[in-house]
Amino acid sequence: MTAAQRWDARWEAQYADRHEPGPPSEFVTGWAELLAGCPTALDLAGGAGGTALWLAAQGIETTLVDVSQRALDIARNAASERGLQLRTVQADLEAEPPPTAAELGSATRWHAVVCSNFLHRPLLGALSGLLVPDGLALVQIATVDNLLYNARPGRAYLVERGELPELCVGLRTVSFEERWFGHRHEARLVARRTA
Ligand SMILES: C[S@@+](CC[C@H](N)C(=O)[O-])C[C@H]1O[C@@H](n2cnc3c(N)ncnc32)[C@H](O)[C@@H]1O
Repeated sequence: MTAAQRWDARWEAQYADRHEPGPPSEFVTGWAELLAGCPTALDLAGGAGGTALWLAAQGIETTLVDVSQRALDIARNAASERGLQLRTVQADLEAEPPPTAAELGSATRWHAVVCSNFLHRPLLGALSGLLVPDGLALVQIATVDNLLYNARPGRAYLVERGELPELCVGLRTVSFEERWFGHRHEARLVARRTA
């Protein structure tokens, strides 16, 4: 079974009896002031678009990428119901090498890139290549400490303590926090592409 088939089935099951994407990441909405200066944004592995739709509602030209066409269809329907513009791209972000900005449909790269709850280390190493110079990256991933109280996500999807900023090469840190946020232990990085 491919990643697309596996995730389509998961999104299908999750949305069998509801049709609205979930809420945006409160980490991302918490940086609304910085994001207000970004004309374009890319949400990587953004699922059914909870965060991408919020970005679009801020007037940011937003692209949502996911491997699941099912998730993208949910996001597109919600966008049209809300009168929002949202570009969706179906792509495998675990491809080797990671997709370039051109392959994800941008000739110019993005002013902001979001990656929330999706860990593929080579992709984080390639984030700077998706950003314009000084562009903003917001990355949020649970850490191994999360296993203390939560069986999921499994270890393969968790960063080690202190690992996240090191993975994001070519970015300078604006803010890095690693602690319990409610019931999840997360690493949260805000960084800018170095010139
Ligand atoms: C845990 S969900 C996170 C969704 C969203 N970013 C959030 O924080 O709520 C992981 C997402 O990654 C997507 N995904 C899984 N493997 C992928 C791949 N190889 N390429 C692109 N997206 C993938 C899934 O379809 C799913 O939407």
